[in-house]
Amino acid sequence: MKIISSLTLILTAVALLAGCDRDRMSERGFALPEGNPAAGRETFLYMQCNQCHTIEGETLPQLAGAEPFVELGGPVTRVKSYGELVTAIINPSHKLADGYPEDLVSEDGESKMYVYNGYMTVQELIDLVAYLQPQYDVVMPAFKYRVYP
Ligand code: HEC
Repeated sequence: MKIISSLTLILTAVALLAGCDRDRMSERGFALPEGNPAAGRETFLYMQCNQCHTIEGETLPQLAGAEPFVELGGPVTRVKSYGELVTAIINPSHKLADGYPEDLVSEDGESKMYVYNGYMTVQELIDLVAYLQPQYDVVMPAFKYRVYP
């Protein structure tokens, strides 16, 4: 009995410690100040994101010789959150965009997207996210559900 209870105690302590560690790396508390979507669009063009990206429903100037191959915005089945968009920009390889063959968007597991972290100001990042976030439309997934009588 005593062994079981010390084991429970140890396991609980381990679980709590693991929980604390996860907490330390958690995105809890993350919040961006309000950005300016028009400035975000300017940044998008200035940084030449349109070299690789189109935006659904937007007409962007074409860059000579560029063939954009990843579309941003459009229908998604759940909200593209600020957190996901910031991560997609500053840590592109963390999670590759859904719906593309891996060898099109990555090389050796790394995203083909440039890392702008040394060049982009925080304000530019905030404005980019403010510009991109409303481009996504949340739609119901197109699954057929069986309805039980
Ligand atoms: C050299 C090509 C290239 C350039 C330039 C580029 N990207 Fe990307 N981007 C990619 C590729 C490839 C992906 C898909 C793989 C991934 O998720 O990282 C991607 C994915 C993304 C995603 C996530 C899309 C999703 O559906 O999850 C966002 C947001 C994004 N890029 C924003 C930007 C912004 C903003 C810029 C300019 C500052 C930029 N990209 C410049 C290649 C590029």
